Amino acid sequence: MPNTSIDSLQHEERRFPPSPKFRADAVATASLYDEASADRLGFWSAQARELLHWSTDFTKDLDWSNAPFATWFEDGELNVAYNCLDRHVLAGNGDRIALHWEGEPGDSRDISYSELTAEVKRAANLLISLGIGKGDRVAVYLPMVPEAVIAMLAVARIGAVHSVIFGGFSADSIRSRVDDAEAKLVITADGGWRKGKVSALKPAVDAALAKPGDHTVQNVLVVKRGNNEVDWIDGRDLWWHEAIAAAESEHEAQGFAAETPLFILYTSGTTGKPKGILHTSGGYLTQVAFTHKNVFDLHPESDVYWCTADVGWITGHSYVVYGPLANGATQVLYEGTPDAPHGGRWWEIIQKYGVTIFYTAPTAIRSFMKLGRQIPDDFDLSSLRLLGSVGEPINPEAWVWYRDVIGAGTTPIVDTWWQTETGAIMVSALPGVTTLKPGSAQAALPGISIDVLDDSGNGVPPGGGGLLVVTEPWPAMLRGIWGDPERFVETYWSKFTTGPLYFAGDGARLDEDGDIWLLGRVDDVMNVSGHRLSTAEIESALVSHPIVAESAVVGAADEATGQAVVAFVILRSEHVDTYTTDDASALLRRHVTEQIGAIARPREVFIVAELPKTRSGKIMRRLLQDVAEGRDIGDTTTLADTSVMQIISDRLK
Ligand code: WTA
Repeated sequence: MPNTSIDSLQHEERRFPPSPKFRADAVATASLYDEASADRLGFWSAQARELLHWSTDFTKDLDWSNAPFATWFEDGELNVAYNCLDRHVLAGNGDRIALHWEGEPGDSRDISYSELTAEVKRAANLLISLGIGKGDRVAVYLPMVPEAVIAMLAVARIGAVHSVIFGGFSADSIRSRVDDAEAKLVITADGGWRKGKVSALKPAVDAALAKPGDHTVQNVLVVKRGNNEVDWIDGRDLWWHEAIAAAESEHEAQGFAAETPLFILYTSGTTGKPKGILHTSGGYLTQVAFTHKNVFDLHPESDVYWCTADVGWITGHSYVVYGPLANGATQVLYEGTPDAPHGGRWWEIIQKYGVTIFYTAPTAIRSFMKLGRQIPDDFDLSSLRLLGSVGEPINPEAWVWYRDVIGAGTTPIVDTWWQTETGAIMVSALPGVTTLKPGSAQAALPGISIDVLDDSGNGVPPGGGGLLVVTEPWPAMLRGIWGDPERFVETYWSKFTTGPLYFAGDGARLDEDGDIWLLGRVDDVMNVSGHRLSTAEIESALVSHPIVAESAVVGAADEATGQAVVAFVILRSEHVDTYTTDDASALLRRHVTEQIGAIARPREVFIVAELPKTRSGKIMRRLLQDVAEGRDIGDTTTLADTSVMQIISDRLK
């Protein structure tokens, strides 16, 4: 990762005072810290009531008696979709634009809150007519089209549970997620626009469901977007536009208990099997609405907000769908990639809609840095008043570039740390309140308790480094891993015995002011372009290929993507002479793409004769990482065979 602690700390003396643009709100916002520290649970209850509509008010806040299984606002009832839609219309804001949708080829649609509400009501009726009811799971595999948002909200509206699968995942990945959640319905599209052409989606769903073994899917609803030709199974497959036209238009939202599951989102862990992170309704919606309002200083009547994340990731769930819509925001939803049809596409969109709040990932910033400032300089970006960053540590150089080139040198940046598991932003500056430090995510938000501990669970002093933990339960926390309570306890709550303490899997440092600097993952999870990938998952994809005997995968520092996947592979002896290393490496890169998806494709596959192992047989990834990053090889004395590393590095020279 480009952002090492030493690198960042050299920039620590650079501080930017709170922007005067935010002074009017700052006093009220700053007081949130005091309120929350005086009475954390009272603070969250007040936020839940202020930000959301409850059809039945709650009397309980947190129940932690069965820790680490939490409930929040348990006896309250609400409808998540009503909170994101109907109540804004009832408040007289039906004409406000909810989505400025921009297709990659340049087609666009403006959808008001009234229109979005009407669409979601129809979609809810359609789901009911397909036999979907409370608690049923619906898989969503869609491009960034309005129907993705409509589908998620329709599922939520009837108390069902969505599992959104990122459109870049392969048929295998779809099938394992559909099976794990026992989804009854898949909502997909014929295809969507990416990088100047239509990329098909339905064939991957067809292939997933055609794999051997029974599955639980009864119907596949297909949004027409790419106009590409698709295969059709009569009786199973339905066109969205036809089915929705036939659906009833009126649907009254019913309140559901606050702990009603809202969604499952699969994320990579340290084993080969992705974890289905479970989020529920009331606490989740409270914290995403709270953070979206305060971290981004949202003024829904005047702001135009744009978060570039895909709905396939948690950022798309919390800060494209639920947070902004709960707050009645106007936002941009963009289908395509930043570089199609030209490198200034994003800046053109900011100019077109007058975007005021822009939230993206460091990896995107770094790729624009590489292209140079003349591209953004061609566009009018003066509407921007706040910039956000998420997904990985932002190196100070990228932070400063983001502020200077995109933010005209004055626009504040909030670096937001959080995870799929935390559901909402946990650590961030607050604009107008916090003095900003490039490269630091800074401080826990009001109502959130974070610490940095050493291996034995003691707090590190200012200046020290250790492991990031959350010390008190929070409203948007994951409620479990779908179908695997043991793994939930083991992965997140068992690292420290002084707990229950939530172990995030990230290393962090505290500076002299007590501000937090994230240092990247401390487990076998990689962060490639802000996307989480598991070394174990890619290793098992590699060894599933018949020519592979053994593999080891590491995340190597990469200037553009933060980390990149680098694989070391031993071929089965009978294949060593059949393939050139180039052929084998190309073949295996393709194989990983088929097994998991293009995001997991290794940057490099090195064919090696041996892997460095300790005497107990554990692969020493640290050494492989040295090789992958072109460094001198570190201490090899614990290796079973100390000549191995020499052989590997000679071979690669
Ligand atoms: C990393 C994305 C540093 C971190 C919302 C975390 C960050 C993982 C930041 C979660 C940040 C996210 N600074 N690191 N501002 N934001 N991370 O689940 O390693 O896709 O554990 O959630 O991304 O990735 P996930």
